[in-house]
Amino acid sequence: MDIGIDKIGFYVPKDYIDIVELAKARNVDPDKFTIGIGQDKQAVPQPYQDAVTMAASSADSILTSEDKKDIGLLIVGTESSVDESKSSAAFLMDLLELPEDIRAFEIKQACYGATAGLQSAYDFVSLNPDKKALVIATDIARYGIKTPGEVTQGAGSVAMIISKDPRVLKLDHKSVYMTRNVGDFWRPTFSKTAFARGKFSNQVYVDFFQTLWQKFQNKYSMTADDFSTMLFHIPYTKMGTKALRTLEETVSDTKYAELTKHYQESIKFSREVGNLYTGSLYLGLLSYLVYGAQPNEQLLLFSYGSGAVGELYSAKVQPDFEQVVDKSALQKMLTNRQKLSISNYEKMYQIEYQDGTIVDPITVDTKFYLSEIKENERLYKKSK
Ligand code: COA
Repeated sequence: MDIGIDKIGFYVPKDYIDIVELAKARNVDPDKFTIGIGQDKQAVPQPYQDAVTMAASSADSILTSEDKKDIGLLIVGTESSVDESKSSAAFLMDLLELPEDIRAFEIKQACYGATAGLQSAYDFVSLNPDKKALVIATDIARYGIKTPGEVTQGAGSVAMIISKDPRVLKLDHKSVYMTRNVGDFWRPTFSKTAFARGKFSNQVYVDFFQTLWQKFQNKYSMTADDFSTMLFHIPYTKMGTKALRTLEETVSDTKYAELTKHYQESIKFSREVGNLYTGSLYLGLLSYLVYGAQPNEQLLLFSYGSGAVGELYSAKVQPDFEQVVDKSALQKMLTNRQKLSISNYEKMYQIEYQDGTIVDPITVDTKFYLSEIKENERLYKKSK
């Protein structure tokens, strides 16, 4: 039975900052941010948006009432959770008007969460072929104002429906994975911003890619010639480039040129959005589906979550994917955004809702929003 991604949707907040303006405000050469880090814009969420509201928006963009009846599993992968106990998935039941015979939970392993969700969904559909699974990656990447990581922030969500006979991407069930206890990135429960040993994280990421690529080739007797495209976890686009470059000496010039061209197509969205944490790999997939993918093309996907877990797996683009992926709607979502000045972004960054906050719906311009914090419980609403 073929199993994989049947639909894929994306949500990005409407506000963004320009990375050249950020560089100037921080007295940094703009080339460092646009070339050295590889970013152009960075999505900025409103204070009434969080991992739950963005997850609702990305899922809402793909779910039909027919899908809702068929879903038996809902997994939210996030490292920006709003509650230490209740899962984001439980909040989504009302916002998305889902029937209650669903197994719903949240999963956390840094940027690997969505891949963990995707592979669990594969298993679920294998056992329940008439059911579908909804897997959502949703995150707000925050390092803090004027920190080295500030340029690698971002926000957004990617939602995927996993089913049999998928129309977007068939998972081949060829996968290798590994876990090591590594201190490259962490966010203690008291902190809204992440702590990172950024350069060390780069080294671990590249090491995981090389180790897994070797394992994959040994396990399946395959080489780079079996793939036309490799998609990487891209918290910022330079990071994937570092992994890709390790192949330069080991593959033919033609293959490396092909992989590089396709990699450039896969990072177009990320350059405009920034870091989605667990959604980053899947934003790369979406970008590639919009700008480069060909029917029946064989892809290799590298997922990495600090701490650290890595997985390398293969998948095949399905013949009719263009009928399911609404390319112009995705591009419009990015072009229809509004630019925030750096000073307004800094002001917005400081806003933190406390218990007792009631959000005036008139000030809200998103479909799903945090409406109130009452007795320390977050309450959400869908705009009429
Ligand atoms: N023009 C072009 N490139 C420039 C430049 C200029 N004027 N100035 C610097 N650069 C390049 C550097 O050579 C470097 O490239 P390299 O990585 O290929 O060596 C890059 O820009 C970054 O410079 P660096 O001095 O390393 O930047 P930094 O000390 O500010 O740190 C990060 C950058 C990415 C490590 C930091 O932003 C960070 O910690 N981010 C968070 C880490 C993260 O997201 N981890 C994810 C875990 S999955």
